[in-house]
Amino acid sequence: AQIDKGGHRHWMAKEIAEQPAILSDTLAHYLTPQGPALPDGVDFADVDRIVMVACGSAYLACLTAKYWIEGLARIPVEVDVASEFRYREPPLGERTLAILVSQSGETADTLAALRYCKGQARILSVVNVPTSSIAREADVTLPIHAGAEIGVASTKAFTAQLAVLAAVALKAASDKGALDAAALAAHAADLARMPALVAQALLAEPELQAIARNLAEARDILFLGRGAMYPLALEGALKLKEISYIHAEAYAAGELKHGPIALVDEHVPVVVFAPSDALLPKTVSNMHEVMARSGRIVMIGDADSLQTGGDGLWRQARMPQGPHLWAPLLYAVPAQLLAYHTAIAKGTDVDQPRNLAKSVTVE
Ligand code: G6P
Repeated sequence: AQIDKGGHRHWMAKEIAEQPAILSDTLAHYLTPQGPALPDGVDFADVDRIVMVACGSAYLACLTAKYWIEGLARIPVEVDVASEFRYREPPLGERTLAILVSQSGETADTLAALRYCKGQARILSVVNVPTSSIAREADVTLPIHAGAEIGVASTKAFTAQLAVLAAVALKAASDKGALDAAALAAHAADLARMPALVAQALLAEPELQAIARNLAEARDILFLGRGAMYPLALEGALKLKEISYIHAEAYAAGELKHGPIALVDEHVPVVVFAPSDALLPKTVSNMHEVMARSGRIVMIGDADSLQTGGDGLWRQARMPQGPHLWAPLLYAVPAQLLAYHTAIAKGTDVDQPRNLAKSVTVE
């Protein structure tokens, strides 16, 4: 079927806006009220190690899933960028499950990593294009059902990957007996709430657009987060670099004092993703370290965390209150919208950023 921008100025804007509907659809494939519903062949009972391999935003979806899988299922997870993984020749084994994640299913390095795993580990792929090479060559494939993604900077494919990997984490926890039926159903119910919460997060667009006008004047921007907000900070920095060409770096908030704080002065905005989770007090103390050096904090939080961390902020944007475990799905939205509106303010080509390709089929 012919697809169009549906009244949006850019594909990226359309793809950001589509996320509530896509996440509902994706979750409908992999979740029931009782818990995860994955196809036959996805079984973690005798898996004692998981390696996840991908590139770009798909890699950052894997880094996020590491927090979920280790936290819920207690299975150790390693995450690698595909171009490093295979040349290191990592040892695998029959109790190792390799999970390859790719929107296109054709990224050369990720495909080569999959082929490296063949005969050495069981192989699961998570792809958007079900007819792709990575889908065809895996033992089992989980399509993310995001529909064609046209914008070069990944948005809806990233959140749909997160949704599928969340269901995978719940299945792993269930197979390992790490969660009882009640806990599983509670996490599934929380996950099922995320599409509606993402729709609410989209309502913060005017605030995020106003912040983006300020960000557009910066030369360097830092992104911080703790726990699963750390990979999200990496995604925020990646998105911003890709389409606005502003230099951005992300750090785990606790790592700030080990180097990057040397960069902080009144010219460097520091974007902090900080829901009101158990790590919030630590994140707020890192924010104070930035403020003490005249750094300008942009805090993205919920009503409670903004109240806790609110003094001395340069800018803030409010997200709905939601389940902390799945917060990366929600905070992906402000990460995307900040990048999008900063790029618009800079006048760059949002859908076709310079030097980048949608699918990288060469090494
Ligand atoms: C390119 C795209 C990124 C994408 C990465 C991995 O660099 O510009 O948006 O995340 O490739 O692509 P894949 O299709 O494997 O997810």
